[in-house]
Amino acid sequence: MAKIIFHEETKTFHLYNDRISYLMCVLENGHMGQIYFGKKIHDKPDFSYLVEKYGRPMTSYIFENDRTFSLEHIRQEYPVYGSTDYRHPAVEILQGSGSRIVDFRYEGYEISQGKPELKGLPATYTESGEEAETLKLILKDSVTGCRLELLYTIFEGEGALARSARLINEGKEDLHLLTAMSLNLDLPDKDYIWMQLSGAWARERHVKNRVLEQGITAVDSRRGNSSHEQNPFVALKRPCTTEESGEVIGFSLIYSGNFRIQAEVDTHDVTRVTVGINPEGFDWKLEPGEEFQTPEAVMVYSCHGLNGMSQTFHRLYGKRLARGYWRDRPRPILINNWEATYFDFTEEKLLNIARKAQECGVELFVLDDGWFGARNGEHAGLGDWIANRERLPEGISGLSEKIEALGMKFGLWFEPEMVNKDSDLYREHPDWILQTPGRNASHGRYQYVLDFSRKEVVDRIYEMMEKILSESKISYIKWDMNRSITECYSAVLPADRQGEVFHRYILGVYDLYDRLTAKFPEVLFESCASGGGRFDPGLLYYAPQGWASDDSDAVERLKIQYGTSMCYPISSIGSHVSVVPNHQVFRNTPLHTRANVACFGTFGYELDLNKLTGEELQEVREQIVFMKEYRELLQFGTFYRIKSPFEENETVWMSVSRDQKTALVGYYRVLNGANLPYSRVRLQGLNPDFLYENIYNGTEHYGDELMNYGLITTDGSAGEIADAACTDFESRIYLLKAKEA
Ligand code: DGJ
Repeated sequence: MAKIIFHEETKTFHLYNDRISYLMCVLENGHMGQIYFGKKIHDKPDFSYLVEKYGRPMTSYIFENDRTFSLEHIRQEYPVYGSTDYRHPAVEILQGSGSRIVDFRYEGYEISQGKPELKGLPATYTESGEEAETLKLILKDSVTGCRLELLYTIFEGEGALARSARLINEGKEDLHLLTAMSLNLDLPDKDYIWMQLSGAWARERHVKNRVLEQGITAVDSRRGNSSHEQNPFVALKRPCTTEESGEVIGFSLIYSGNFRIQAEVDTHDVTRVTVGINPEGFDWKLEPGEEFQTPEAVMVYSCHGLNGMSQTFHRLYGKRLARGYWRDRPRPILINNWEATYFDFTEEKLLNIARKAQECGVELFVLDDGWFGARNGEHAGLGDWIANRERLPEGISGLSEKIEALGMKFGLWFEPEMVNKDSDLYREHPDWILQTPGRNASHGRYQYVLDFSRKEVVDRIYEMMEKILSESKISYIKWDMNRSITECYSAVLPADRQGEVFHRYILGVYDLYDRLTAKFPEVLFESCASGGGRFDPGLLYYAPQGWASDDSDAVERLKIQYGTSMCYPISSIGSHVSVVPNHQVFRNTPLHTRANVACFGTFGYELDLNKLTGEELQEVREQIVFMKEYRELLQFGTFYRIKSPFEENETVWMSVSRDQKTALVGYYRVLNGANLPYSRVRLQGLNPDFLYENIYNGTEHYGDELMNYGLITTDGSAGEIADAACTDFESRIYLLKAKEA
């Protein structure tokens, strides 16, 4: 049972379950001190010896006649700047006097069952009181009257803690929040490798490691979206930690806008981790009576390696962040026309693609960009969400009915946040875009960003989308976002609130998602931002899957999907089989390898099946039969990464069913070689006592054998007995089935 204990005498809080302990206490100056986060330890009333206080040269102290108590040398929960601590703070508030000094002192606490919602923000949730306990710490700065509430939720049976902060102006004068992080964690040493997910368009979420050292290590976004470049996720792992074993702490921010995750190692080797909205450019005015809620951040502790950490995130984000009708349902196999036609289509061309797909067993046809307004290319139409009757004579409702008559569901692309200057919406409301008066308004892909911080803008887009969704048979929406924000400024906010626009924009995006998902609860939403530019936990709350990358090449996808799986469930990873030569890297990979990669995701096709040979079509039919049979296991099973594409020529990952009776092992070899060494893979997650039949080659092995000796993956590519089928970009899926005892 998840428990929160308060020891009155020592003013110590202990949050624990059977996996983790989190300890903190009230310090002598009334601030909250951090004691411990890690593997579960026994409770006891007094841990004060862990609050280490030493006098050090060149230090400033809080109390007169005391040379031990300096915030610079004490680990804290939500530190402030300027009162003896010179490290980066969790909160910074500019006051009318020009001062930024605040002094948040403990006033009390509340413990509740379950978890409260965060108004207007995506967050993890519980379905019953027994699933979690929440602690609210209440602190106050007496000079400004600002109240600070720190929220901590500990989940039953999970090594995860959700945290956020709320600031309420209970004083008499305006305040400006310049920094309001979601969490701060001061760790007692720096013996960690920092692991981040970085990249660029078509190369998202590559795993990057660096040794933590004294100074600052950080990732952030200032683009208005969580970004292709950095993901709001970081792990700190011990140097000996592997996928399979060792300690790691994962940090993830449930947010889709500008963020910052930072580790500051001081010169005494203490590590301060802060996670939250990027303070750069952030300035939120808090008038008396107003409050500000930070996004939620989640910390996961695992002593079972990176896989242990990822599995915790997968369970939590798959079941208690993602919501609604599709949360637990295997995802429909779709065909998307983008790479098949780009903007060059007619209704007949689309129906031809759909007919062939339906014959092969595809369940959902998705019409991508180009169906609306004057959208014949990138220059026009965004903002006019009305079907282009030249292309679609009977509109979206007519096309969706024809698709349904074929026996498939119909899905539609939108890019709700954008507008082209060549559009009726822009002509009507040129002041609706984000732009700074007197400055150039930069474009990206010839498009401009609508000011979603304004309710009337969101309302208008909602009306247009709601109309199409109500009038047509739409089962799926792909929500795209194809540029970052520049010259961020809202025409309707006063000068001293312009620092709020980036955050207000994201709140507007969440608001539109919220209204649409509430009105159309059975529509499946897939988020997208030129592929993986906004693949973050914030959007997972509304859209249970996201198009992981515009790069659909199977080899590139190994890295993208491997990195993505560090934090995000397999059911959320949008992945398709596309044509060869691939449109992003012009590589030719075998059809089976493209499917073998895509099936560890939502699975679909992004090509015109009419252009395939009869033999290839037969292969596609078999892939779809396979996917339908095993998608539940692939998307919702326990996922293990075994061999990393960042380190080796071979990549291996696998999914195991909850009852451990079935497993699917994906094996991928990028380049072939002559006379290769022996190859075997030590599997994970099987039941050691089950006898498994390896359906791929008909052999039988106990689980312990497969996990300790390993699965043999050597093949016949050796010299003169080379098998012509074994070439570059080879892959196979091993199906393991437990035999009945
Ligand atoms: C970017 C997306 O990632 C693509 O899949 C496609 O939808 C295009 N936008 C359409 O403009």
